[in-house]
Amino acid sequence: MERKCFQQLSILLLTAILIAGIGSVMPSSTRQVYAAGNKKMKLNHSSVTMQAGTKRKLKITKGKPSGTAKWRSSNKKVAVVSKKGVVTAKKKGTAVITAKAKRGKKTAKCRIKVFKAKVSSFPLSKGKNGKAPTITLNSGYKMPVLGLGTYSLEDEVCVNSVVAALKAGVRKIDTAYIYDNEESVGEGIKKSGVPRKEIFVTTKLYMDQYDNAEKAIDDALNRLDLEYIDLMLLHHPDENDVKAYKAMEKAVRQGKIRSIGLSNYYIKEMKEFLPKVSITPALVQNEIHPFYQEKKVVEYMHKQGIAVEAWYPFGGRGYTGKLLNNKTISKIAKAHGVSSAQVILRWHLQRGVVAIPGSSNPDHIKENISVFSFKLSKKEMGQIGKLDRNEKHDWY
Ligand SMILES: NC(=O)c1ccc[n+]([C@@H]2O[C@H](COP(=O)([O-])OP(=O)(O)OC[C@H]3O[C@@H](n4cnc5c(N)ncnc54)[C@H](OP(=O)(O)O)[C@@H]3O)[C@@H](O)[C@H]2O)c1
Repeated sequence: MERKCFQQLSILLLTAILIAGIGSVMPSSTRQVYAAGNKKMKLNHSSVTMQAGTKRKLKITKGKPSGTAKWRSSNKKVAVVSKKGVVTAKKKGTAVITAKAKRGKKTAKCRIKVFKAKVSSFPLSKGKNGKAPTITLNSGYKMPVLGLGTYSLEDEVCVNSVVAALKAGVRKIDTAYIYDNEESVGEGIKKSGVPRKEIFVTTKLYMDQYDNAEKAIDDALNRLDLEYIDLMLLHHPDENDVKAYKAMEKAVRQGKIRSIGLSNYYIKEMKEFLPKVSITPALVQNEIHPFYQEKKVVEYMHKQGIAVEAWYPFGGRGYTGKLLNNKTISKIAKAHGVSSAQVILRWHLQRGVVAIPGSSNPDHIKENISVFSFKLSKKEMGQIGKLDRNEKHDWY
C-alpha cells in the first residue's frame, strides 16, 4: 500500500517537474511569432522606449510585414503606427503596438514607452559653485551636468583625484575599462566618505569585451566594488556592439546598471544602431570643444531625447594650451574675472552639453566645479561659437 502511494506520488512529482521544465525551455518570444499566409514573421522587440516626437520602424527579422500585417496601437494619443510598422511617438505614456497577420491567427505585440526627456538645456541657475545642477535622463535617473574625467589617471593619482573631486562637491565620475583605473575610482569613492547614492558613476565597455558583455558588466561591478553602475557606455561602434548593448539592456532589467548609452557614435552610426535596440541610449559621449563643436550631432541627439557629453572638453592633453590661451576665450574670461577653463566649461553647459574635465590637480578640480557665479551673454556664446574649425584631436 505504502509502496503504491509512493509510486503515485513519484509519478505526480515527475509530471510536475516535466511541465515546469517544458515551460522554462519554451522560447519566451513565441508570442511574437505569427503567420501571414505561409510566412512566419518575428517582431524583433518586445518593448521599445522612444522620445516623444520621434519615429521608429519596428524591426521584423523574418518575413515581410508590408501588405500582409495590420498594425494597431492601443493608445493613439501616445503612439500611432503606420501600415508599414513605423511608430510615431506622440506624448508621454505607454501604448501596445499589435501586428496582426491578415490571414494568420497569432499576433505580435510590442510595448512602446514614450518619454519626454528635456536634456538640451540645463537649469544652471540652480547650480552653486561646488554643486552642479542635475538633469533627468530619458531613463528617469538624475545626473549632474558636470563631473570629473579620469582618463590617464593611474593608481594613487586616480584615487586622490576622485577624493579631491568628491570633497570639492563633484558628484559625477567618468571611468572606463580601458583606463585601467576602475578599482582606483571605487577606492576613491570609499575613501571620500561621500555616500554612494549621492555619486553618479559612469564606466564603459571596450570593444574586446563586447562578445562576452554579461561577464564584462559583472567584472566592472567587481572592480568598482559597487552594487550598481549609474551609466554604462559602449566605448566605440563595433561589429558586436548590438550584442553588447542587449547585454546592457538585460543588466538594466536586473538592476545592475541604471542607464545605458554610447560613445563615439555620430548621426550615421545612430541611424543604423537605434532601430536594432529597445532602450534609447540615455547619453552619447563624444569629442566636443570650442575647436570641434559638433553642432549638427548635438542637435540630432537632443531631438532623440539623448543627453550629449563632451570628452576632451578643453581639447585634451597636448591641446589645452591652444584653447586656454585663445584670444577670444581669454578676453571673455578677463571680463568675468574667471579662468579660461571656467569660460569653456560654462560654454559647454550653456549649450546643453555635459562636461567631464579631466584633472589630477585639486586646485583645477575646485575651479572646474565653480562655474555657477557667472553667465556668458548671447554675444559671448556666439563669439565662442565662431571658433569652431572642425579640428578633431583624436581619431575616433
Ligand atoms: N569616450 C571616449 O572615447 C573618451 C576619450 C577621451 C576622454 N574621455 C573622457 O573625457 C575626460 C576628459 O578628457 P581629458 O581628461 O582627456 O581631456 P580634457 O579634460 O580636455 O583636458 C585635461 C587636461 O586639462 C588640464 N586641466 C584640467 N582643468 C584645468 C584647469 N582648470 N586649468 C588648466 N588646465 C586644466 C588637465 O591638467 P591637470 O591634471 O594639471 O589639471 C589635463 O592636462 C577623460 O578624462 C575621460 O574621462 C572619453
